[in-house]
Amino acid sequence: MSTRTLIRGGLVVTASDELHADVLIEDGRVAALAATGSAAAAAWTADRTIDASGKYVIPGGVDAHTHMELPFGGTAASDTFETGTRAAAWGGTTTIVDFAVQSVGRSLREGLDTWYDKADGNCAIDYAFHMILSDVNEHTLKEMDHLVGEGVTSFKLFMAYPGVFYSDDGQILRAMQRASSNGGLIMMHAENGIAIDVLVEQALARGETDPRHHGEVRKVLLEAEATHRAIQLARVAGSPLYVVHVSAEEAVAELAAARDKGLPVFGETCPQYLFLSTDNLAEPDFQGAKYVCSTPLRPKEHQAALWRGLRTNDLQVVSTDHCPFCFRGQKELGRGDFSKIPNGLPGVENRMDLLHQAVLDGHITRRRWIETACATPARMFGLYPQKGTIAPGSDADIVLYDPHAEQVISAETHHMNVDYSAYEGRRITGRVDTVLSRGELVIDRREYTGRAGHGAFVHRSTCQYL
Ligand code: URP
Ligand code: ZN
Ligand code: ZN
Ligand code: ZN
Repeated sequence: MSTRTLIRGGLVVTASDELHADVLIEDGRVAALAATGSAAAAAWTADRTIDASGKYVIPGGVDAHTHMELPFGGTAASDTFETGTRAAAWGGTTTIVDFAVQSVGRSLREGLDTWYDKADGNCAIDYAFHMILSDVNEHTLKEMDHLVGEGVTSFKLFMAYPGVFYSDDGQILRAMQRASSNGGLIMMHAENGIAIDVLVEQALARGETDPRHHGEVRKVLLEAEATHRAIQLARVAGSPLYVVHVSAEEAVAELAAARDKGLPVFGETCPQYLFLSTDNLAEPDFQGAKYVCSTPLRPKEHQAALWRGLRTNDLQVVSTDHCPFCFRGQKELGRGDFSKIPNGLPGVENRMDLLHQAVLDGHITRRRWIETACATPARMFGLYPQKGTIAPGSDADIVLYDPHAEQVISAETHHMNVDYSAYEGRRITGRVDTVLSRGELVIDRREYTGRAGHGAFVHRSTCQYL
């Protein structure tokens, strides 16, 4: 028996179109769209009809950068796959791509299997994995080919965090060469971690221990330098490059210059860089620790360049880099030494709303909202058109978004497993009303109806954005 669901009367918004249309869902997939009121739409019958009048009908968000349960900084990110994917659904995101981690001295296989186990049976929404390479060697390089074959088609390398995730330029070049032959996409954390560690040591020696110094030592120039170097290495290897969590105007300029040469270089930014700044890092009484992440928050002046990059397509994707640590007991590990504050911010629940507010504020268009948060991340990471759009054959991962509802973001009401919000008190116009994942209701008119274990692993193809 097939089940048919009909979403009637909303404004369907995708990266390419806005139309008043009804959406017919059959067996978890979009079966057809037809203009509301048309003879075709009027003839449809369904087991269940959802009234979307006054709402946007948008593809579920694709958050291509999350770290559920990541062991990091002597502790672990506070959202599990269960709590984090539930919170994602509340925020209108229906797919995450999380980072499995290779530990130094271990294989990719072992790291990836650990992540399969963490996620399996726990997720409310669909998920996929990138692989973090912490130990590039002959075996790792061979394993990359296997991973591409099993749908893990992107690999994150770190020019930062010496002794943890760091790869040197030779390792980076080898991994890029391998990716250029197997179709993998290299994702780069572009900060010169060797130089940063010198500045950290010197700052601490001067007694500069507060959270704001985290932002001062992780200099814009060291992000721009690493971005430039990564681009040159990718050119030498003949591989495409995706730079994660771009925060600085000078780094955007490096991406723009490369793209002007026609190079396959892409950039992601995150809501924290678009909405927060070093003012937050400087909040007194150690409150700045709540905003410690890497790349760090920048002075407000950088935000205009990030918005411009999103408009000009020098930046293509907005992901969250969701990596939550509670203030109590986790961020507090770095009292008296900013370098011991676990790096990362919560945000998987807030991204779609913050970007909708950006539409209202005139930073991006409504379609660009969907493009940067749904369609392009899906294309970039080989999930399109299964994810990221509403089209016949696509998974029925659909959000009914109320563009007029008012909300105030707060840790009191959010669903992420973290004791603060980076956006506490921020007013947003717009709110998720209903969420479907493969045709099943996960959020039904602001009530959670999902279930841990509904979410399935998604096998990705290689980058479709080239
Ligand atoms: O501060 C951050 N971004 N933590 C997560 C790890 C990373 O570098 O993405
Ligand atoms: Zn092998
Ligand atoms: Zn990173
Ligand atoms: Zn990250």
